[in-house]
Amino acid sequence: FYMSESFDLIVIGAGPGGYVCAIRAAQLGMKVACVEKRATLGGTCLNVGCIPSKALLHSSEHFEETKHKLADHGVIVEGVKIDLARMQARKGEVVSANVKGVEFLFKKNKVTWLKGEASIPAPGQVKVGETTYAAKNIVIATGSESMPLAGVEVDEKQIVTSTGALELEKVPGHLVVIGGGVIGLELGSVWRRLGAEVTVVEFLDRLVPTMDAELGKQFERVLAKQGIKFKLKSKVTAAQKGKDGVTLTIEPAAGGAAETVKADVVLLAIGRRAYTAGLGLAEIGVATDARGRVVTDAHFATNVPGIYAIGDAIAGAMLAHKAEEEGVAAAEILAGQHGHVNYNAIPGVVYTWPEVASIGETEEQLKARGAAYSVGKFPFTANGRARAMGDVDGFVKILADKTTDRILGAHILGADAGTLIAEIAVAMEFGASAEDVARTSHAHPSLNEAVKEAALAVGGRALHI
Ligand code: FAD
Ligand code: NAI
Repeated sequence: FYMSESFDLIVIGAGPGGYVCAIRAAQLGMKVACVEKRATLGGTCLNVGCIPSKALLHSSEHFEETKHKLADHGVIVEGVKIDLARMQARKGEVVSANVKGVEFLFKKNKVTWLKGEASIPAPGQVKVGETTYAAKNIVIATGSESMPLAGVEVDEKQIVTSTGALELEKVPGHLVVIGGGVIGLELGSVWRRLGAEVTVVEFLDRLVPTMDAELGKQFERVLAKQGIKFKLKSKVTAAQKGKDGVTLTIEPAAGGAAETVKADVVLLAIGRRAYTAGLGLAEIGVATDARGRVVTDAHFATNVPGIYAIGDAIAGAMLAHKAEEEGVAAAEILAGQHGHVNYNAIPGVVYTWPEVASIGETEEQLKARGAAYSVGKFPFTANGRARAMGDVDGFVKILADKTTDRILGAHILGADAGTLIAEIAVAMEFGASAEDVARTSHAHPSLNEAVKEAALAVGGRALHI
């Protein structure tokens, strides 16, 4: 049959994994196409994820600050109001500029955007619409979708996923969030700041359960102080929609008496799952695991020669920068280079205020593997800059090998934690010891000094506490 055009590489999906892989491969001299079915490039992250959520987090924090925090600094602002339509329009402008930026990068790097939904009729072939293209290699970067919950039917109006929660035209009276993870706490924070009463229902006994437990506990206290209500160890078993809102049935996770709670809007955020529908993976024999993720080896290769996979569609943290690192590594491997991702040094950040940031192993993980480790901790109350800013919630915790002093992990709750963690990421990539960080000059007065002090504290010699 007629094969329209052939490429060295066809990437399926133009999210942070796919578009970065396509650009890197083009830089390395390959003839590359990237298939995207959405009207714009950038995937979940740029269109309905990282970028619009951060735009709303930033705008809503400006409101919160103006309304509740500036007076303490002696700045008096009266008649503070929200123009939600403007806030949403601004978010749209931010997204639009970002997705157009990716389109520009494709042109610059001569990556062909094949518009439409792709399937893989056979190894070496990618079908888009009625056209079949030949590809020496194929990278699956189709991302993920929101996980459904039985009894809670999403309509993106009253019962929403993150996508609907980013588009609300009115501040809900009562927002109930199912899932105390990253999406629930970020978007819960947005709507709480804008005036909603927010209740988070979490199945486990703590928030962001994959993060260091001490961090999760203090994070919960900080968010509770801000007014978010928590129902931990609880599960939603039913959601009944009515004209005036949704009635949720909530039960203790371990079983027991049910209660009902009324919500104007329900945000379902219990995790995301790999999305590979329509590719035809089963037909061509590409293996997936029990959770629907494409199975890959250390070189991102599937069990079918010439077919690779990266990002949210495979195992590991569902993070944009993890997908990007994999995109780069996969392209370099295809070019015969030694692409590699250090999974132990990928930071995770929750962009609430204060922020939460984590890298490497948690204390629970170290205990579980019987590691001998030292802990260095430093609170922001003892950091001069944090005091000057009026942002003293939180702490820096560094975990290091007891014998070698090598940094094994770091966990930060506090202002700009997501930026502070980058220093530890670089240190870990260089195999640094806590002492290396402790002996590095940190500008004064800066929040980074809390990182230095925590590193000093690993050796039992913090100076300011
Ligand atoms: P995706 O970004 O999901 O892209 C996959 C693309 O493939 C999609 O555009 C899809 O349309 C397309 N596609 C799928 N199937 C086909 C097909 N058959 N043919 C053609 N195209 C197809 N991560 C962070 O690191 N930081 C954050 O702050 C952050 N915030 C988030 C906030 C929200 C609300 C959400 C939902 C996620 C957030 N994430 C964040 C996670 C991040 O968005 C994902 O980890 C990241 O987008 C994964 O990239 P990816 O390239 O693997 O897939
Ligand atoms: P998540 O995995 O972070 O959190 C889901 C939470 O829901 C967990 O705490 C889990 O215990 C709980 N849960 C599961 N089933 C439940 C049930 N039936 N009832 C009540 N609680 C239940 O998933 P989330 O928040 O949906 O986010 C999805 C992914 O998107 C995350 O894995 C994250 O990697 C990514 N993301 C990243 C962001 C960032 O980097 N800042 C921001 C937003 C999303």
